[in-house]
Amino acid sequence: MRAGRLACALAVLAGCAAAPVSDTRIPTQPEGASGWIDKPGWAGTRFAVAAAHPLAADAGYQVLKAGGAAIDAAVAVQMVLTLVEPQSSGIGGGAFILHWDGTSIDAFDGRETAPAAADERLFLRADGTPMPFGDAVVGGRSVGVPGTLRVLQAAHRRHGRLPWAQLFASAIRLADEGFVVSPRLHAALAGDRRLRESPNAAAFFYDPEGRPWPAGHRLKNPALAAVLRQVADSGADVFHGGPIAEDLVRRVRAHPTNPGQITGADLAGYEAKLRSAICTDWRAIYRVCGFPPPSSGHLAMMQILKLIEYTPLLSPTRADGEASPDFLHVYTEAARLAFADRAAHVGDPDFVSPPAGDWSSLLAEGYLRERARLIGARSQRVAPPGQPGTPHSAWAPMAWQPEGGTSHISIVDADGRAVAMTTTIEGAFGSKLLADGGTGLPGGYLLNNELTDFSFISADTQGRPVANRVQGGKRPRSSMSPTLVFDLRDGRLVMSLGSPGGAGIIHYTAKTLIASLDWGLDVQRAIASPNFGSNNGPTLLERGRFAQPVIDALKARGHLVNETDLTSGVQAIQRTATGWFGGADPRREGVVAGE
Ligand code: GLY
Repeated sequence: MRAGRLACALAVLAGCAAAPVSDTRIPTQPEGASGWIDKPGWAGTRFAVAAAHPLAADAGYQVLKAGGAAIDAAVAVQMVLTLVEPQSSGIGGGAFILHWDGTSIDAFDGRETAPAAADERLFLRADGTPMPFGDAVVGGRSVGVPGTLRVLQAAHRRHGRLPWAQLFASAIRLADEGFVVSPRLHAALAGDRRLRESPNAAAFFYDPEGRPWPAGHRLKNPALAAVLRQVADSGADVFHGGPIAEDLVRRVRAHPTNPGQITGADLAGYEAKLRSAICTDWRAIYRVCGFPPPSSGHLAMMQILKLIEYTPLLSPTRADGEASPDFLHVYTEAARLAFADRAAHVGDPDFVSPPAGDWSSLLAEGYLRERARLIGARSQRVAPPGQPGTPHSAWAPMAWQPEGGTSHISIVDADGRAVAMTTTIEGAFGSKLLADGGTGLPGGYLLNNELTDFSFISADTQGRPVANRVQGGKRPRSSMSPTLVFDLRDGRLVMSLGSPGGAGIIHYTAKTLIASLDWGLDVQRAIASPNFGSNNGPTLLERGRFAQPVIDALKARGHLVNETDLTSGVQAIQRTATGWFGGADPRREGVVAGE
């Protein structure tokens, strides 16, 4: 299966049309759309790995084929993604890893942290007003202390089987020998104005005339190869101290126009955290497990799914992959309620107390049944937050801000262990800072802009603080939703899935669950089905995917409809009667490899 399918996937990577969207409560698409690639889905019996680039999936495949565990494959996939999908994730960013060992789930939190010196004025101008978002992103100010290597190492130490160093072989070889620039990477480079302002990034990603390397160009990355060799030999600590760390600190603090505050002590002190996954029963058939805060993903997604379940208005949805107007009405109303709660309550749990003392209060049946009563025949357009119990939270709702970027990896190994890992440097090419690890060689790895996931505004006009405001050492709120689904009856794993796409991650993951497990589409068709959502603003429909009568029916119910690119990048692996069936999003370049 593998070689033929991978070759096919590579051959059909086709034309690109960057189409950034920027509007209130409409997911920004900083990586842009890059064309549609029809994909058949991949069936196998023993193991599977789904990732955003064929070379990354192949690296994971090689590890699984060699008897590696799911987390071993995740390390190999992430290292290759750092090289071949540099716009989305990498060792300069952060990640959440949900791991199933056949008995229990671990939630490894590798989210970036704010430097100790950061405070709520981080993204304010001298007059106290928030910086323009784009200006905040570029430079050292937005860079959080990376967590990707330490979180992978923590998960590998607990669940790995193959030696750590072996997992870097594919990425180091590809960095040394070069990889072929994909249409999607070319489109992202072509569409990015700010990356060119970073001298070493401009020299690496663009030709001497300033043109982005074309699709098909072979790009070597000697600096990344050198950094990965050190990490392979010495572990993640070599990234958090010594020349690699000194180089990172210097680039962040010495940025000429927008310096940041990261110190060597911030890097040395970074800790990946082991948290408890939140598991939520759904439809009395499934247990859906996801990441707790600092991610808002699972809480919001499961609020939506449960609110739909508790809403009597819903007529049966169509099983052909196109949602009915009635379903879209209820879904988007539920989403408004969920995003209102997300804005009001969710922040880093080491700094923010959950409402009613427990994050699961936001998923309590009594609370959600009460909230579902707010879903009527006409759209609310903007929903208010709720209070799921006492003590009440007294946070000010966070205003809408752009979010984007990210990559998702799903893996099932031959022993039934599974990973759902969502990984990010935030926006496309992160902070646009390319670090060479102090090697002086061309290339390197990109530093994240994760701190712009914090609220720029720290309090409302009444002085109530925002839960997700900047504080030293804090982790910014995320939308990443790595998800593992189990059958309630026998406890077996049913699916591993997740998506990139900023706040849209929540909708893309929810839609895939609904379309596969509720409507009965195979997971490839579920992923391909039209995207929709609302972030507590307009009703968002994937451009060109919904018939006019559907749009008219929504408008008749009071919806403000906005047709836009909703560039999901879902990867998913689903159990079948004979093994596993994997799907990768036709909107991006991902594939599934397995046996
Ligand atoms: N930066 C994307 C996310 O964490 O949701």
